[in-house]
Amino acid sequence: MNKKRFFKYKNLPVFSLLFLTACIENAPMDSLSPAGPYARQIDDLFWLTFWIAVGVFFIVQGALIFSVFYFRDMPGKPEPKQIHGNNVLELMWTIIPILILAAIAVPTVRTIFDLAREPEGALKIEVIGHQWWFEYKYPDYGITTANVLVIPADTPVRLEMWSNDVLHNYWVPKLNGKRYLVPGQKTYLNLQADSPDEFWAQCGEYCGLSHSKMRGRVLSLNQEDFENWVNNQKLNANKELPEGTLAAEGQQVYLNAGCTQCHVIDGVWDVQGDRIAPNLTHFANRNVFAGAALKNNKENLTKWLANPAEIKPGTFMPNLELTEKEIEALIAYLGTLK
Ligand code: CUA
Repeated sequence: MNKKRFFKYKNLPVFSLLFLTACIENAPMDSLSPAGPYARQIDDLFWLTFWIAVGVFFIVQGALIFSVFYFRDMPGKPEPKQIHGNNVLELMWTIIPILILAAIAVPTVRTIFDLAREPEGALKIEVIGHQWWFEYKYPDYGITTANVLVIPADTPVRLEMWSNDVLHNYWVPKLNGKRYLVPGQKTYLNLQADSPDEFWAQCGEYCGLSHSKMRGRVLSLNQEDFENWVNNQKLNANKELPEGTLAAEGQQVYLNAGCTQCHVIDGVWDVQGDRIAPNLTHFANRNVFAGAALKNNKENLTKWLANPAEIKPGTFMPNLELTEKEIEALIAYLGTLK
């Protein structure tokens, strides 16, 4: 039979390269470079367990290799002493693994409880999973935003999470482990970043066609920048757009082409109740869109508005058959939503 083999020696360089990609430094989704206390606690536990496993590996393999050579059969060599049923040895290899497991279990359980506890003075933010993007609400400030989670640096944040449709999973590798977003049930996750920085998030549970494009960003700001951000987010988008400008035309496209069916812009079209698409009030302030799958720039917006499903298969955003002129106007208007 001529079965195709997955691994061939001539492909070794390819496999080695793939393997080496795991060693890239400063990768945005690197779970081995924690940037906050929660992620660091998990990291510490990982390394403790890792080094214990390394010790076990070398002791067991060492004993095996030693036995293979020292007790190998040779002409004239008597059979080595048999140890089957030796009580002392049996006790030893029962007790030692118990001690090793205890050495791992105690800090593991402590970490689980530490990570689950609600931190004092934490900022509360709601995270709602949608196919395929994350929505964020700040109940203390009355803010609704999407894709980019903005948090104050060096301050604990308590996420209260659920899903609007199917199972999702919230994961910011540099700030904490994963946590499920469940329809009809709340789950909680703590985040804290040491300093102002940008982190990547990813949905960690297969949730449909565009699961891999359900990404996010976490932006941690220093206290002053965060307060400015909050104050700006509280403003609505009801500002004068000089008549005849492209942006004013774009606002008419937003109001009349069908966008308002799903997208709220506070002060312009703010229907009460939950909508299935991101709130666009401060769209221009976010550096990514479409579930953080795309950088927020004119080129990407043009592609997206012309045919959303080409970029995110299965997306609920319909192709509105907008003309090039309408798309250009809409992008000019979106640019004013700061
Ligand atoms: Cu949401 Cu995968």
